[in-house]
Amino acid sequence: MKIGVFDSGIGGTTVLTAIRNILPNEEYQYIADSKNCPYGEKPEEELKQIVSKNTEELKNWGAEIIVIACNTATTKCIGFLREKYPELKFVGTEPAIKLATETNAKNILVMATPGTIASERTKSLAKENIREGQNITLLACPGLADTIEQKLDIRKKLSELFEDLKNKNYQPDVIVLGCTHYSLIKPEIQSFFPNAKLIDGNEGVARRVKELI
Ligand code: DGL
Repeated sequence: MKIGVFDSGIGGTTVLTAIRNILPNEEYQYIADSKNCPYGEKPEEELKQIVSKNTEELKNWGAEIIVIACNTATTKCIGFLREKYPELKFVGTEPAIKLATETNAKNILVMATPGTIASERTKSLAKENIREGQNITLLACPGLADTIEQKLDIRKKLSELFEDLKNKNYQPDVIVLGCTHYSLIKPEIQSFFPNAKLIDGNEGVARRVKELI
């Protein structure tokens, strides 16, 4: 089976690795669309054009399944893509908020791009899954995906983003990595919150692809 995967750069390679771990014999094509990074700060119309272009490229290569290895593009465009390309099967990547609420965590921190945090989908994932005694903090992280993509100063960027939380002495029990780029900097994030459990949705995406096959 030919499986196409795309993201705004290297972030989606973390999803690709999870899929290949359980499906090593399929054929893969990966688009690292770094020239359009960051997706998370793009207007929806522009993002729709970008994801259509990636989809066409993967379709021309022969993809039957397309994995959107990007939370931002999934939360904003998966419905649009399914409607536009009914002949293809799409699997999206969403912030693993449900998984986080199923743990016994009290404080759940969701880190994602401004686009993902502002999306209706993220808000409803939080609202529908939160359990009694839990609180969910949504933290938009402008510039973080780009800092990772360009291999800039990650610690400096994280210090800025976490400053308010640190000042309030907020301690997350679980941190949801709601952008595939963030899975590449787990040790750096963990160093700010050593007691938090870090989770992403990558294995869930891989299982979904397997089910489809
Ligand atoms: N890696 C992507 C995500 O999961 C997009 C990052 C970006 O381009 O803003 O949201």
